Amino acid sequence: MTSVPCLQARGLTKSFGALAAVDDLCFTVDKGEILGIAGPNGSGKSTLFNIITHIPFGPTAGEVLLDGEPIHGLSDIEITRRGVVRTFQREAVFASMSCVDNILVALEQTLGVRGKEAQRLADEASQTVGFPRNFHNQPAGALTVFHQKQLMLTTAVAQRPKVLLLDEPASSLVDDEIERVREVILRLNRQGITILLIEHVLPLLTSVSNRLLVMEQGAGIAEGDPREVIRDPRVIEAYLGAVA
Ligand SMILES: Nc1ncnc2c1ncn2[C@@H]1O[C@H](COP(=O)(O)OP(=O)(O)OP(=O)(O)O)[C@@H](O)[C@H]1O
Ligand SMILES: [Mg+2]
Repeated sequence: MTSVPCLQARGLTKSFGALAAVDDLCFTVDKGEILGIAGPNGSGKSTLFNIITHIPFGPTAGEVLLDGEPIHGLSDIEITRRGVVRTFQREAVFASMSCVDNILVALEQTLGVRGKEAQRLADEASQTVGFPRNFHNQPAGALTVFHQKQLMLTTAVAQRPKVLLLDEPASSLVDDEIERVREVILRLNRQGITILLIEHVLPLLTSVSNRLLVMEQGAGIAEGDPREVIRDPRVIEAYLGAVA
């Protein structure tokens, strides 16, 4: 018996007028895997996360299955409730709200959880991510970029993801911060969370990913063992073409 993939995309497409930002993409992710996603700027990586989660919009065509069940027709909140949760490439926090309120608002909006149970989830996620508890009552806008990214990740983890979609969690960070991001990703994965990781920081991406998918102009151009995939001539060509 073949096991059902945790997440499966079939013919996934998002068009903006004549531009197919994601173009007939197919891939699978097994439970407990970390799938790395690379590709030059504008290749459709963030759009892929948008259309899987419907935050902020769904696909033009194609299917997304979670544990074999279609989720592409559901609302953004229902997709989150089913366990597919994302972070954003740019720090997406409510700057004037306290850190803990950032987490609590998300929990109320998506899971409909409030009060003591929400506080418990916020504390538990802060501990897992290593987000300092003494930041909880500070305004989120006062945090450094690293801590804003940690807050965004804590908010995602508090929503009890089965599948976590991380969009460039290490961008703009320095080496020791990137190392801490690496440790958190591996810790979350050890706790059983399946992870899709978009990242331009290749040492991080190749060291944590079980498999790597490379996108160019919305399509998947290579997939497999990360160390082999980054040596694939098509992948090198895609990156060189992007900087030429
Ligand atoms: N809302 C939108 N409206 C129109 N075009 C868009 C929209 N969002 C993305 N695009 C276009 O879709 C393509 C893919 O963009 P996307 O942000 O997914 O790339 P990316 O791979 O995440 O790039 P980066 O590595 O720079 O983050 C780009 O050409 C972009 O300009
Ligand atoms: Mg992007």
